[in-house]
Amino acid sequence: MNADQLFKARRHQFITILGRGSVEVFESILDRLLAWDLLNWEEYEYVKSPGLLSRSSRNLLDVITCKGTRACELFVVVLKDVIHSSQLTGLILGNYKPPEETDESSASLSSLASQTLQKHRPDIVRKLHGHIAAVLELLHRHGHFSKYECEEVQLPIYTPSQQARKLLDLTKAKGDDTAKVLLDYIESEPGPVKHILGNICLKYQEKLSSTLAAQSRFLTNYAGTENMCLEDIYVDCILEIANTAAENDCLSFLVGLEDIFGSDGVSNKYADTVLITGEAGSGKSTSLQKIQQLWATKQAFQDITFVFAFSCRRLNFIDKPVSLKILLFEHCCWPDDHQDEVFQYILDHPEEIMFMFDGFDEFKFQFTDEEKHCSPTKPITALNLIFNLLQGNLMKNTKNVMTSRPNAVTANLRKYLQKEITLKGFSREGIEMFIRKCHSNSSSAEHILHFVEANSALHGLCHVPFFCWIVSKCHEQLMQNCSDFTHTMTDVYLLILEHFLLHFTQSCQGINEVLLSRVATILRLSKLALDGLTSCCYIFSAAQLREAEVSEEDISLGFLVHSHSFSHACSVVNKRNYEFLHITVQCFFAALYITLNDNVGQSTLYSLFKHNQENTSPNMMSAACLKGWLFYCDQSGEQHKRRSEVMLQEAERSNLQITASFVSGLLSGRHRNLMGKTSLIQRRSKKCKLVKKCLAKSIQKHFLSIPPAVGGEKKSMHALPEFVWWIKCIYEMQDNDLAKQAVSKLDVDHLKLTYCGIGPVECTALAYVLKHLKNPVGLQLDYNSVGDLGIEQLLPCLDICQSIYLRGNNISDQGISKLVDRALDSCNLQKIALFHNNLTDACTPYFAKLLKHKDNFLALRLGNNHLTAAGAEVLAEGLKQNNSIQYLGLWGNKIGGAGACALAAALENNTSMLWLSLVGNDVGSQGAKALALMLKKNTILEELCLQENNLVDEDMLHFAEGLQNNSSLKVLKLAQNRISRKGVEFIVKALKHNVTIASIWRKSRDCRGDRRNDSRKKIDILIKNWKRELCALLLLPSWFFCLMNCIDR
Ligand SMILES: Nc1ncnc2c1ncn2[C@@H]1O[C@H](COP(=O)(O)OP(=O)(O)OP(=O)(O)O)[C@@H](O)[C@H]1O
Ligand SMILES: [Mg+2]
Repeated sequence: MNADQLFKARRHQFITILGRGSVEVFESILDRLLAWDLLNWEEYEYVKSPGLLSRSSRNLLDVITCKGTRACELFVVVLKDVIHSSQLTGLILGNYKPPEETDESSASLSSLASQTLQKHRPDIVRKLHGHIAAVLELLHRHGHFSKYECEEVQLPIYTPSQQARKLLDLTKAKGDDTAKVLLDYIESEPGPVKHILGNICLKYQEKLSSTLAAQSRFLTNYAGTENMCLEDIYVDCILEIANTAAENDCLSFLVGLEDIFGSDGVSNKYADTVLITGEAGSGKSTSLQKIQQLWATKQAFQDITFVFAFSCRRLNFIDKPVSLKILLFEHCCWPDDHQDEVFQYILDHPEEIMFMFDGFDEFKFQFTDEEKHCSPTKPITALNLIFNLLQGNLMKNTKNVMTSRPNAVTANLRKYLQKEITLKGFSREGIEMFIRKCHSNSSSAEHILHFVEANSALHGLCHVPFFCWIVSKCHEQLMQNCSDFTHTMTDVYLLILEHFLLHFTQSCQGINEVLLSRVATILRLSKLALDGLTSCCYIFSAAQLREAEVSEEDISLGFLVHSHSFSHACSVVNKRNYEFLHITVQCFFAALYITLNDNVGQSTLYSLFKHNQENTSPNMMSAACLKGWLFYCDQSGEQHKRRSEVMLQEAERSNLQITASFVSGLLSGRHRNLMGKTSLIQRRSKKCKLVKKCLAKSIQKHFLSIPPAVGGEKKSMHALPEFVWWIKCIYEMQDNDLAKQAVSKLDVDHLKLTYCGIGPVECTALAYVLKHLKNPVGLQLDYNSVGDLGIEQLLPCLDICQSIYLRGNNISDQGISKLVDRALDSCNLQKIALFHNNLTDACTPYFAKLLKHKDNFLALRLGNNHLTAAGAEVLAEGLKQNNSIQYLGLWGNKIGGAGACALAAALENNTSMLWLSLVGNDVGSQGAKALALMLKKNTILEELCLQENNLVDEDMLHFAEGLQNNSSLKVLKLAQNRISRKGVEFIVKALKHNVTIASIWRKSRDCRGDRRNDSRKKIDILIKNWKRELCALLLLPSWFFCLMNCIDR
């Protein structure tokens, strides 16, 4: 369908979308149309005239469609640029593909100042943000604008963008001299220049930054236990960003905290919010605190004038309606005078304002965009205010950064995100740096590090910063207990429990005695924890503590800390409020309650472990729940149980999962006797049986739900998100029999766990359970955060893997050394895929060794890494000694001509390799020649992929020669090179002597439906027929003609 036909057919939808959109969007479209000369001034005046947006949209469509197909095509390009793709692509464009953006339409504009303003109108509108007053003052001073005109442009009914457009329209009407003054101003002020702050705002900025600097100086969770200076302890975590610009939409790369607002990874340029997601304890709050500190101490983010930081946990407490002004001034920082001026500055300069929202998952309600609010002064609920800030209904163009655990991010919220960054905890080096920072004495740091690195599961746990902090803090106990290794998350949290209790009692009693002597305290704290968790309450008032009978002495143990004030002036958050030193510690205590308390019956346990399958809206709370946070008080056993089941369904999902993992750990054989009398231990054994049954059944049920394999294919299972959680619970139980029972009867060939947030901790658990699988499987872990640490954790289950897929997992050469060492002894393992990691030539000796010694190895895929010719040469040495490998993928490396030569030499006499991909390796003529000659001798290779390699026509001469003497190659892929008709002719001649080749690719296959592609299909079919009918077809001119058709035109 042509673009003009599209407009006729879908006119109604176009008008609906334009008419229901905002004035800002419509005017942005007009800016671009003017800039491209698609509208002349009269037309612009006509369509923008005030009135209904739907009428203006109709007028605009009429004007554009009258201009013909090309104008319509360009109009679609403009629409695609301005309107969110979910609206446009799915609803209207369908299969229609607009042409690439060009600037041909603007070529006609000459260099008059007014025309330059028009040509760059969209950029200039943006650039003028924050400059309107200064420009008007200049134009007024030079006599171009009257005072009245200046006031009209600045009328408060207009947004900053509309003021800029008014200014441009008026300038255009005044003529070229006025335009020249404006243009000179813009050119002398490159980029959006920060407004020079007046004294009033400067004073407020100073107050705000000194408040934030003070708040961010110490690590917030340990207030009361120790003063940990952020500067002294902070270590950069791994931040990963999805590269949506990449063709396959799944490549990702790392960014530093200072770069979060950069252009990388932007998926919606019209949204203002950057979201940082990460699992519990991965360092989200700490990262925001760091950003806050960087700004307040003038180390970064200096294009921002004011930063306002909020904790969602505390925002829950604002129960009265608030306006934006109240939220900023009363809950962040109060301007000592001229509040109105400061607030006006904030409203006028949104691009200079940063909002930070920490812990979006801690909000009591799920995100909704139903209630629109755009008045900065009218009060509404704090929750709605934040939702509207995120949507840009209030204060569009601010810089927002928000953190959340992943499962609280809904599709609805995603629409308003500019980009998503994943926080993946510490790297191996990060762990080392952190431990060194915690222990100034270098020999003790060395000692701890050595201990941690020697215990692989513990090392994996340290990848989560909070666990790393516990390990580092409790190192003495840890090393004393070294005979009883710390493997699990529960072990780590028991360490901190013991540490605080021992520290408090300062006695030399054994830990069990100390725990027993404190059972009552532990029960009180754990009850408080569970009550809070089930009502999404993480801050406790003095009254709540009294009700839960938590005494001053209980508090002084250190698990409860003063609720620090992220948003300083928050009236409800003051010294008398407490929170657990981390939410995961609250989960741990809640688990202690569930395990230790007899009143918690089997049905509660059942609903805890079943929770996720049934609850679809984990964060939505009922009003009853909000009121009755202390549901355990004063209730009969039966009431208590029933209520607890209901309440468990309301709690935040990831916290419940963490609690359930701790319950599993505490019920494990290793810890069941903790603090127990015989009768209690018997009850716990019952609970343990039930949990085991739940876990084994859940996994088996999940497997049973997989449809049977279709004829000839492998049975494949794509794991549900709960799968990893169940596996982690089994691991916490440290029960091999349970692991065996859960998976040993499962009949599956391929286990797919892509994009499941799997890090080293999850790898440990996976290996622990999956090693009991009955048959070898393909384990697909693409696009997780396995890393080198995770590779180490996976080794125990490598024997049961027939293939392992680790694409996009930030693995380096160090990880490969461990992987290959183990792979050499893993008889089942035949395939390794490591596409898009951080591999360099240094990993190739390991693979060469693997090839040399593993004689059943089938496939190695190392695409999109950093291998060069040197690496390829080492691989080639390994290849020479291998006669099993069938697939080798090196797509997107840099092996160049020399690397290709080495591989070609190794393959001359190879007897196994069927498929070789050297796509995008710049093999050039040197490599092409070597590969072509290899074809003369090689008798096995069936497919050779050489797209994107800068090959030219002359190189085809060599391939022609190679093909004439080859009788194995079936597919030769040569698309995206510089081969013309002449090059194809060389190949065609050679085909007369080759009866094996079935397909030669000149264009990429992915343009389905394309006419040229049809002709390529024809040639494929033709070659196939030709193969059958041999030389009979060879002489027919028709096949030659078809072949010619696939030449790039
Ligand atoms: N970058 C870091 N450098 C040093 N320590 C860190 C870092 N990040 C986190 N930590 C340690 O881990 C603890 C927990 O981190 P944080 O509270 O930021 O996790 P979180 O991701 O916000 O967890 P939650 O999902 O529960 O809110 C911190 O108090 C600190 O001790
Ligand atoms: Mg947090």
